[in-house]
Amino acid sequence: MAKYHKYVFDLDKRELVGDFETMYQNESKENFDSWHQDDTRQLQRKIDFALLEDYSFDKIIDIGCGKGSLTHLLKKKNNYVLGLDISQTAVNIAQERFPDIDFLSVDVDRIENFTSLTAQIGGVNLVFTSEVFSYIENWKELLKEISKSSEYFMISLYIPENPIGFVKSENDLVEEIEKNFVLIEHISLNTTNFVIVFAKGKNT
Ligand SMILES: C[S@@+](CC[C@H](N)C(=O)[O-])C[C@H]1O[C@@H](n2cnc3c(N)ncnc32)[C@H](O)[C@@H]1O
Repeated sequence: MAKYHKYVFDLDKRELVGDFETMYQNESKENFDSWHQDDTRQLQRKIDFALLEDYSFDKIIDIGCGKGSLTHLLKKKNNYVLGLDISQTAVNIAQERFPDIDFLSVDVDRIENFTSLTAQIGGVNLVFTSEVFSYIENWKELLKEISKSSEYFMISLYIPENPIGFVKSENDLVEEIEKNFVLIEHISLNTTNFVIVFAKGKNT
């Protein structure tokens, strides 16, 4: 089992542990990179960025940005990118690595946090989120809020058979996205169980 797993899920009880702060604090001590997030060669990540290549976005939020390894790929010379993560340690590491991006420690499962933040920055053009919704109990509500404040939405998510995480199936996820957005692309990686959806808001 990878060293970070114990901080994420209790496999026996089949429930979320979600101790992301301790996990990031222990990375250097225990010598691991949670979810191998610094490895941007993973196919689903290449697909995310291939889809985004044809678009430009002035303001972007990356929800659950971790140490910023994908966030910085969204940053251009002339756009604004904000990375959000529940872990202050992850945010500190990301901020140190990528000073031209803003990073904030925020729990997006408390929807009011996300709502007030997007109100403060006056809406965004893209909300990007990679490998995070499994940990967000209120993900359906969050989706609704994202659709009110962002023009585009991209999600990449690993959804195994019988998941412990809060997103229970690809169908559930896509159905919920379609309530709030119009799909631009929906890609399933059938052997590795990754789902990628890129969509445009109905309300923007
Ligand atoms: C699997 S990592 C993904 C990191 C990065 N997005 C990537 O794809 O490499 C999940 C991230 O979500 C963050 N996270 C989990 N629950 C969260 C919450 N309620 N609010 C904000 N971030 C959260 C964790 O701290 C962790 O950094």
